[in-house]
Amino acid sequence: MIHPRTRPNQPKRTVSIIGTGSYLPERILHNRDLEKLVDTSDEWIMTRTGIRERRIAAEGEHTSDLAAKAAEKALQNAGITAEEIDLILVATVTPDMFFPSTACFVQAKIGAKHAACFDVSAACSGFLYAIEIAQQFITSHTYDTILVIGADKLSSIIDWTDRNTCVLFGDGAGAAVLRHRGGGHGVISTFMASDGGLHDILYIPGGGSRFPITKENADSRLNCIKMNGKETYKHAVTSMLDAAHKVLADANLDPEDLACIIPHQANLRIIEAIADRMKLPIERFVVNLDRYGNTSAGAVAIALDEANRTGRMKVGDYVLLVVFGGGLTWASSVIQW
Ligand code: ACO
Repeated sequence: MIHPRTRPNQPKRTVSIIGTGSYLPERILHNRDLEKLVDTSDEWIMTRTGIRERRIAAEGEHTSDLAAKAAEKALQNAGITAEEIDLILVATVTPDMFFPSTACFVQAKIGAKHAACFDVSAACSGFLYAIEIAQQFITSHTYDTILVIGADKLSSIIDWTDRNTCVLFGDGAGAAVLRHRGGGHGVISTFMASDGGLHDILYIPGGGSRFPITKENADSRLNCIKMNGKETYKHAVTSMLDAAHKVLADANLDPEDLACIIPHQANLRIIEAIADRMKLPIERFVVNLDRYGNTSAGAVAIALDEANRTGRMKVGDYVLLVVFGGGLTWASSVIQW
């Protein structure tokens, strides 16, 4: 039996981002505040990462709250109602619960009563993985309007005694509404890749079925992020460059054709290395990690919204999004705005 929304034998459709939104919690945690928690300094954090401050969710503010607030702004920006959404995808590694999905919680919060909902797990790459999933559903005529959200409350899985990781991350969410729009503008090419053999350079070992929550596992902080910073850095640069070149080749574009590049917001030095190897000025890159740190799946989604709202992308511009995260996973998309 064919699902009523499936309309086979129709030509593929272009997929546009018709609205964006983002939400950052109010509370700001400065580098100087971290000096009181671990043996670190504002100077070390700024020079090694470019991060000056990050946002931390309020008590009782969950990932779905951040996601729903970003979603509402994206709907407003798109000029549509929640009831028009056919599917909600939330990319996150910090879901409210194992189940129901955070997407289901968002559905209830924004009143998207006609939507199907599920979460996507691809760590910091999740937002672009979800964009690609959404694109497939729209080009195949399965759904018309999809809400894609990248949201993480990393403060809930940070080991605040580990200076190697606690200085890097923050909380936040970004959202985009995708829909077919005539005229050819939209997502031109997307690439996704993974290497599960490298799972142990960036991961959260505990809390799942392998190391369930026990007092012993919690005392060993197995529910917190573990990271080999140097290895992560190395793979981030090479894999994001590879992903960028793949979508540019597929779209028949050169780096100079890009009006702006929206990279994962992990470390300014990673972004500078990519700019250098693509032979592009750093000004072409959207950077907000100085204000928000690394918000995982939220990062590129928040940066996309800021670029949209500040007019960095004009209609017809080519924009490259490129991400990297635990898994390892990495992905890129080239979009004509
Ligand atoms: N403050 C002060 N000293 C520190 C801190 C800190 N916060 N953190 C580490 N150090 C120390 C280390 O202990 C080490 O000391 P030692 O030489 O006495 O052992 C020294 O600083 C140098 O440490 P390195 O790891 O060599 O520092 P590096 O220059 O590589 O910078 C960093 C570390 C910032 C983590 C870098 O490797 C990096 O950015 N890696 C990528 C991180 C990343 O992108 N993560 C997320 C990607 S995916 C996702 O978003 C989930």
